[in-house]
Amino acid sequence: MGRATLADIKGKDLSALAKETKTNTGDTNKVSNANKNRNNTSDSRGKKSRRRHGKMIMPAAVLVSPVQRLFDTCKDVFALSGTGIVPTPDKIEQLRAVLDEIHPANIGLTPRMPCFSPPSYQRAPPITYLHIHECEKFSMGIFCLPPSGVLPLHNHPGMTVFSKLLFGTMHIKSYDWVVDVSSNASAVVTPSETVQHPAVRLAKVKVDSDLTAPCNTSILYPADGGNMHCFTAVTACAVLDVLGPPYSDPEGRHCAYYYDYPFTKLSVDGVTVPEEEKDKHAWLEEREKPEDLVVVGASYTGLEIVEK
Ligand SMILES: [Fe+2]
Repeated sequence: MGRATLADIKGKDLSALAKETKTNTGDTNKVSNANKNRNNTSDSRGKKSRRRHGKMIMPAAVLVSPVQRLFDTCKDVFALSGTGIVPTPDKIEQLRAVLDEIHPANIGLTPRMPCFSPPSYQRAPPITYLHIHECEKFSMGIFCLPPSGVLPLHNHPGMTVFSKLLFGTMHIKSYDWVVDVSSNASAVVTPSETVQHPAVRLAKVKVDSDLTAPCNTSILYPADGGNMHCFTAVTACAVLDVLGPPYSDPEGRHCAYYYDYPFTKLSVDGVTVPEEEKDKHAWLEEREKPEDLVVVGASYTGLEIVEK
């Protein structure tokens, strides 16, 4: 796939990259084989156990792959998924716990894969999205960013999003809308510059820091937690993203992109924030999808998911 919005790439299998992924699944195969070996060991122990006790007890939890467990948990956690519907706190914790147990090695991902090496001739290195699953309730996939790769500032309307950094270091900058002054801040304004800006809206910085794996899963919500975010790869890195519900233009969940301007760059009548808070605020202006954003989609060829 060439260029598409983050929403467009979900659910599409692109043969060009699938080939690349296929050639780099040595570790995946190792994982699969390792699992087979584990299963064989388990089988032989089971047979011995059966011989001793006349009955074989299968340790079901051992046989479930981390991705399968993630899929099963998402089905439960997002069973009532819809625009603006946030799972209950216990469901959130359930999913967070499953994500905390996922590591690159056990999902067949390695920094040595070519998608993590930036081609030197391109200014903005392409980002790869490994599609794992998408249904109307949720989507799961992995963003693979080479060094300096950028997922530009974008939103997640009405969604709850879990992002697990699998490896590498990534800078996250995220915002939430400031709602208490939105009536003023979302109005069309004339900025102090000569450049015409159609509309800006006030947002507050939620996160502006580097994240290095292993680290906690980040969670954002429809109205807080940093619903608009930008990822910049400091080193090659991979992020496992779970969205509930997924992007959907027909259902009004369109992926929008934004410019962000320092609070002090524009002046808007009636909108003030305390001096010490100014650097924690910014004006966001919706923009077209950045032209230099290249997201290449591919199917995840790691461990298989079984829909029960
Ligand atoms: Fe995102």
